[in-house]
Amino acid sequence: MNTTGSRILLVGGGGREHALAWRLAASDRVHEVLVGPGNAGTASTRSCSNIALDTSDVGAIVAAARSCSADLVVVGPEGPLVAGAVDALGREGIAAFGPSAAAAQLEGSKVHCKEFLLRHGVPTAVATSFTDADAALAGLRQFDQPPVVKASGLAAGKGVIVAETFEDAAAAIESILLDHRFGDAGAEVLLEQRLHGTEVSVLAFCDGERFALMPPAQDHKRLLVGDLGPNTGGMGAFVPSPLTSPALLDQVTNEVFAPTLAGMAQEGTPYRGALYAGLMLTDDGPKVIEFNCRFGDPETQVVMPLLESDPLELFEACAYGSLDDVEAHWSADAAATVVMASEGYPDSGSPSVRISGLSDAAADGCVVFHAGTRLGVDGEVFSAGGRVLAVTAVAPDLASAAASAHEGLSRISFAGAQHRDDIALATAEVKQ
Ligand code: AMP
Ligand code: GLY
Repeated sequence: MNTTGSRILLVGGGGREHALAWRLAASDRVHEVLVGPGNAGTASTRSCSNIALDTSDVGAIVAAARSCSADLVVVGPEGPLVAGAVDALGREGIAAFGPSAAAAQLEGSKVHCKEFLLRHGVPTAVATSFTDADAALAGLRQFDQPPVVKASGLAAGKGVIVAETFEDAAAAIESILLDHRFGDAGAEVLLEQRLHGTEVSVLAFCDGERFALMPPAQDHKRLLVGDLGPNTGGMGAFVPSPLTSPALLDQVTNEVFAPTLAGMAQEGTPYRGALYAGLMLTDDGPKVIEFNCRFGDPETQVVMPLLESDPLELFEACAYGSLDDVEAHWSADAAATVVMASEGYPDSGSPSVRISGLSDAAADGCVVFHAGTRLGVDGEVFSAGGRVLAVTAVAPDLASAAASAHEGLSRISFAGAQHRDDIALATAEVKQ
């Protein structure tokens, strides 16, 4: 670190990256956060600026880190992590936060992940993998209920089909293995027993050996009020989850994170960076639905505002393997975030439209994290993607945080905007 503070290169341009940039930039130890490619929100966050960057080009990430003399590179999305960005930066002697390509296979290959979980006795749903469509169709007979059909590789969050009938499961198998709907990402499919319960996202900072859990978040995946409609990347999230008692978190620590970190180290692929466990809380205890090799989106938009410790210390400790020297302190407050998405999301693209009311939401005490936005001439902000922004509020209790986030969101408008009016509210009402 130089005496004027660190320069960080943050790779990515979504809501998760805006939340990370915002929190890192607030550290006394950080001089500047360069976000590549960023969005209109990162362009206007104090001590942050955007640089042009193709996040799918590992060579370009290394070149950008070198040319801006980054003290630390934080890689947000799974694509460059699975493609080996952290390994390539390491070969150049550049410190980076995130797993190696080998460790990122926990997300990069669902088949690899399932085999790992079973090898190390981590609770998960039973599953079988197939590369041949006829074999997979015959494999349906092993299941009493229609299984979940998963493309093994990275499919931009769309590779999981939760089939309601065996016919739907068969159609999903055919579209992945015969019609190549997800290209190479669907060269192999997993048929997985469907689990029932509530989903919780538990993330941890990991340094290859040790880990520190973040406050568990609940994410609303469905597009429409009442958890109806198609699955999305996430329409909102909140902390705390009333379902995660200290006893449950001990169980998640001992049955999920401890064996995973130990198993990864033992297999020669120690896990560094953020590890995201998507858990189903079933009657038989928590089970892993998926691992992601990165922060969640929109979970990061509710977790980062609650981080009281210096973020750079934590990120560096993960990168350097020294998490035993650092403690993560979190606010006991609640946080809620509500996503505004474009017309047509999640099925189709939408034209770019002007967004108004952003400063009114901020004046209400909310933080508006941008996702798919871009700056126009004269500083106007336009939509530029499916999920456009997320409005976060922090308060002593969840009902107040949820009410503030919804209030802040009501100040913002753009043509065709979609959002859910019930994010965090059902839970907050139950708690009152
Ligand atoms: P994934 O991309 O693996 O997180 O899956 C996307 C979503 O599909 C999850 O968040 C769950 O809502 C659902 N899902 C995945 N696997 C299962 C399962 N075994 N049982 C029930 N739902 C599942
Ligand atoms: N919120 C779901 C994800 O980040 O994958």
